[in-house]
Amino acid sequence: MKFFVDTADVAEIRSLAGTGLLDGVTTNPSLIAKSGRKMSEVIAEICALVPGPVSAEVTATDHETMLKEGRYLRAIAPNVAVKVPLTEAGLRTCKVLAEEGTPVNVTLCFSANQALLAAKAGAAFISPFVGRLDDIGQDGMGLIADVVQIYRNYAFKTEVLVASIRHPVHVLQAARLGAHVGTMPPAVIRALFRHPLTDKGLEAFLADWAKTGQSIL
Ligand code: E4P
Repeated sequence: MKFFVDTADVAEIRSLAGTGLLDGVTTNPSLIAKSGRKMSEVIAEICALVPGPVSAEVTATDHETMLKEGRYLRAIAPNVAVKVPLTEAGLRTCKVLAEEGTPVNVTLCFSANQALLAAKAGAAFISPFVGRLDDIGQDGMGLIADVVQIYRNYAFKTEVLVASIRHPVHVLQAARLGAHVGTMPPAVIRALFRHPLTDKGLEAFLADWAKTGQSIL
């Protein structure tokens, strides 16, 4: 399973990239707004830090302008993936950009039929939002299971990018289902490293080691 970080915070991305475990980055207009920076600059900086796909989202809602924005964003760096919303205009734009060789991440997906349409439009990634579905009492992971199954049935190449991940259990469930990618906030990635028994065990090992008076180097 590939791990993407869902943020436009360059310091966080730099730090997580240093682990060697980061496969890509997703941003959205809200995350760019939170960064307080110019979008083209922040995307260029992120693309230089992470070799994997960096999703940059269009903000127009009509096909022609989305296409222009998508081409502009794609020209920022070779690893930009253009993100479009799952609307009719978004999927028209996806089809054209995909035919031009641009990887497209179709975002704001909340149903399996929407995911089917995105695959038919040539999306490189589909982003079903599990947390936002859970928030309204629907089954976010049930959607992931459906999309993974449907894509397998037809051997679609579109990767299932689980989005709106809120906690480590979402990551575990997505991995069990065989989702290709999870995008998560930095805090969720960091939480995956931790276990109280790891901390306790390490503390005991180090205490015993100190008693020996040895040093390995
Ligand atoms: C994904 O690409 C989205 O940016 C993100 O996962 C949305 O997450 P949220 O529902 O926590 O805002």
